[in-house]
Amino acid sequence: MRVNPVREWVREQRCLSSTTLQPEQKPAAPGASLALSGLRKAFGDLIAVDGVNLEVLKGECFGLLGPNGAGKTTTIEICEGLTPPDAGAVKLLGLDWRKNANELRQRIGIQLQETQFPDKLTVEETLRLFRSFYRQGLSSEEAIRVAQLEEKRKSRVGTLSGGQKQRLAMACALVGDPELLFLDEPTTGLDPQARRHLWDLVDELKRAGRTIILTTHYMDEAERLCDRVAIMDHGKIIALGTVRELISSVGGEHIVEFAVRGDAIAVDVSRLTAIDGVRSHRVDAGFHQLAVTDLHTTVPPIFAELAAMNLELSEFRTHSATLEDVFVALTGRNLRDE
Ligand SMILES: Nc1ncnc2c1ncn2[C@@H]1O[C@H](COP(=O)(O)OP(=O)(O)O)[C@@H](O)[C@H]1O
Ligand SMILES: [Mg+2]
Repeated sequence: MRVNPVREWVREQRCLSSTTLQPEQKPAAPGASLALSGLRKAFGDLIAVDGVNLEVLKGECFGLLGPNGAGKTTTIEICEGLTPPDAGAVKLLGLDWRKNANELRQRIGIQLQETQFPDKLTVEETLRLFRSFYRQGLSSEEAIRVAQLEEKRKSRVGTLSGGQKQRLAMACALVGDPELLFLDEPTTGLDPQARRHLWDLVDELKRAGRTIILTTHYMDEAERLCDRVAIMDHGKIIALGTVRELISSVGGEHIVEFAVRGDAIAVDVSRLTAIDGVRSHRVDAGFHQLAVTDLHTTVPPIFAELAAMNLELSEFRTHSATLEDVFVALTGRNLRDE
């Protein structure tokens, strides 16, 4: 059986934490690992972050979601101490960048949206370099194992694939064994296999009790990984909660979509929304979308009403409501409308 190096590493970390932590280093009681209040940042006339308040609890995997340009990277780079905010307060692990910058750098891990490593260094050399920045952490060998880059240990960074470079960036973020990890679009541009590999890695870190804050514009990624998410649009948080809470805020667990031949205006929407269990209606690109509580009780009367209106269906499909539907319900736009 193939040994999962991440799982092994996490197991080792657990043993390590229970035996070697000094009393003063003991994890604080559950509380906020990150607290943002009234955060603002403008670039000239453009307000990138517009009054963000947020708390992320210790041990949470928290997702910052939103379309390109929503302000996710700016928010996260303020948290990481890379961009000074125009206004507002940032507390990380109870500390402040203005007073505790060195301490914070030892305790957090950062994967930037794009990382440029020196091409001529090997994977091993890059990780040794990053490890040298931290007082304690993994050995570069452990980090190589966690990122499953064993076969690339001696390869120069310039020769790595996109997925391998992303895993190296993740390994560099992990090499200081951070309490709080920031991942900015960790899987953008990765192929499905590399993406799943990164998801597995995040799962293992979650099981090890690390606090993770990630940004993504993939709703499925957030649904798969995050305990709670904040949806961001135009610099503001427009929704916050667990994936379940947000989806149920749409008003229905399922979406029924249909299109009719001929004149879509012939659809008498009020007859559809009057059906028990139909919560809302909208039209998107010629498709009528109904949020419904239950498929088995709502679909038969929807069919019956459409037949009574003498409408011929060209398409009819259903799906479980997703975070994408939440975003559409809140903004009237699709996430990928860019
Ligand atoms: N350094 C910068 N100078 C000028 N505008 C910027 C800068 N960084 C980000 N922006 C702008 O701020 C907005 C938010 O960007 P960003 O935080 O990168 O969004 P996201 O990560 O959600 O895609 C965008 O309109 C972007 O063009
Ligand atoms: Mg970004």
